[in-house]
Amino acid sequence: MDQSRRLKSVKQGNKKMKNPFLKANGISKRFGALAALTGVDLEINSGEVLALLGDNGAGKSTFVKILAGAHTQSDGELLVEGRPVTFSSPKDAAGSGIATIFQELALSENLSIAENVFLGRELRRSVLGIPFLRRTEMRDRVDALLHELDAHISDPEAPVGSLSGGQRQAVAICRALNLNAKLVIMDEPTAALAVAETRKVLSLTRRLAERGCAVVLISHNIADVFEVADRMVVFRRGRKVAERLRQQTTPEEIVSLITGAHPDVRALETNQ
Ligand SMILES: Nc1ncnc2c1ncn2[C@@H]1O[C@H](COP(=O)(O)OP(=O)(O)OP(=O)(O)O)[C@@H](O)[C@H]1O
Ligand SMILES: [Mg+2]
Repeated sequence: MDQSRRLKSVKQGNKKMKNPFLKANGISKRFGALAALTGVDLEINSGEVLALLGDNGAGKSTFVKILAGAHTQSDGELLVEGRPVTFSSPKDAAGSGIATIFQELALSENLSIAENVFLGRELRRSVLGIPFLRRTEMRDRVDALLHELDAHISDPEAPVGSLSGGQRQAVAICRALNLNAKLVIMDEPTAALAVAETRKVLSLTRRLAERGCAVVLISHNIADVFEVADRMVVFRRGRKVAERLRQQTTPEEIVSLITGAHPDVRALETNQ
């Protein structure tokens, strides 16, 4: 995307800041004696890629698992489109339009792309009381989604087992879109990918945001984050220590925020 379009979408994101898709207020999570998250406040806007950064163990995955209904917070509240929500399972989160693409993608190798996209919510019709799958309709829908994402996959009938890592990410993104996800969370989607595949997944990520989805991206790769994220949030030891718009920061500053060398983080941590 060129600079002016990106700035425009960031501005739109800012404008929507008053009505975020999701708002986290004071989220804390304890695992026994360990405080994995402490008082995290965060807003996630539609049409925006928000990157979560931080060292190993900073609490990023724990936070997105709470958004995804895989963990329940010990404290704090989540609001979706202004309404308080309680998620007891990933199904509850999906019901609020939140889809998560975890590193281990959970696709079925021996099923086709189309079958994977519709898994568990196949389209059916009934003829004389006998249910039939609406295969052509499902295939056409998946074809349209793949085309829209510019995923370069020609045959929705191909088994997922024959796809590369990047293509599998595209299938997982199609599945999220097919669920009408309004927030797509991606936890290290490019960690295991080669350079060309990484580029493809990053451009899919931008496309999701341009389609109006809110996207949360976790990545340790600062260059990738600077390429796609509109806003960045840094976690350290379970706390949110910084938030920056992409055009107001640099990779160097983000690294110093992650490592704790940044004066803002040092000030914050000496006051704790
Ligand atoms: N199910 C669990 N039970 C107990 N402790 C956990 C559990 N999940 C995470 N933790 C702990 O919570 C802290 C935060 O972990 P989390 O996985 O959220 O970190 P992260 O920022 O995603 O790190 P990474 O970059 O390595 O993926 C860590 O100290 C971790 O050991
Ligand atoms: Mg993690």
